[in-house]
Amino acid sequence: MASRVLSGIQPTAEMHIGNYFGAVKNWVALQDTHDCIYAIVDLHAITMPYEPANLRANTERMVLDLLACGIDPEKSILFIQSLVPEHTELCWILSCLCPFGDLRRMTQFKDKYDLLERQDASLFVSAGFFSYPVLQAADILVYRADQVPVGKDQEQHLELSRELARRFNNQFGVELFPEPAPLFTETPKVMSLVDPTKKMSKSAGERNYIGLFEDESSIRGKIKSAVTDTGGVPGAEMSAGVVNLFEILKACGRTEEVAALTKNYQEGKLQYRELKEVTANALVELTSGLRARREEISKDGGAVNAKVKEMSEKARSIAAATLTEVRRAVGLPVRDS
Ligand code: TRP
Repeated sequence: MASRVLSGIQPTAEMHIGNYFGAVKNWVALQDTHDCIYAIVDLHAITMPYEPANLRANTERMVLDLLACGIDPEKSILFIQSLVPEHTELCWILSCLCPFGDLRRMTQFKDKYDLLERQDASLFVSAGFFSYPVLQAADILVYRADQVPVGKDQEQHLELSRELARRFNNQFGVELFPEPAPLFTETPKVMSLVDPTKKMSKSAGERNYIGLFEDESSIRGKIKSAVTDTGGVPGAEMSAGVVNLFEILKACGRTEEVAALTKNYQEGKLQYRELKEVTANALVELTSGLRARREEISKDGGAVNAKVKEMSEKARSIAAATLTEVRRAVGLPVRDS
């Protein structure tokens, strides 16, 4: 069997070019070589304070965004995590195998804990947030996926998934779960346009990021005001902001322009106005194609909903088969299916 890929994305934010170049574009490419399952992880999104109406809207938006980017229901399964209750069922069973101390040591947990509970006594870190990595392990193991495309920030969570797979197999004397390996594909790192030493993110504010479906004038405006430097020094090392613009241009596939403009830079002749214009043009071309596709798909909302339901059912039938084996192995009664 072809190796099975699983990955998940939270339905929290409007997708930006950092998400696209850093993850989603790779998901699309993997569809041609792997058996891919992609989850919109709404249950992870509720581990932090949120608004129900926003969650609903964001989940729907994420479905459209991913379809517009090229996730293809003919090739892959794209589904909504909470429509497959086997994730939470397996999460519970795995959490009974997971040492408390392992979760306590997760850096994502520690960072949030420090930020929230220590600084503002009115906020708390939920038990759900504490268990976040176990649910992530369940997402992966319930499909017995062996490859997980993720960013480096998810390395520790992946390591926990491997440990839980190993522990389950050892404890119950079965070979049920493969150990899922992270798939760290080389992807461009897109940085903030305002502070190019930080990763592009929506939370830092409007001008820091470019939405994947943003309109032309707003994209041009943001690129125009992106941080650079004074420039004009032959052979000088590029500042972070200039590197970032080149990185974006390269991510758009404009290798020839990158080569020509880099040469100009080295000779101290590059006008940043030109670099920005070329980069904005490349982005506008990419995003207008994606936006057109998104508009086309969203015309028939009913068909999209039906498709997602159908794919979630498909995911569920795989997950349910795993749960039958899991329940048998751990001594729980097996349900009729
Ligand atoms: N924690 C991941 C992130 O923030 C999202 C995620 C949830 C995930 N479940 C997953 C990623 C399973 C890979 C596999 O990016």
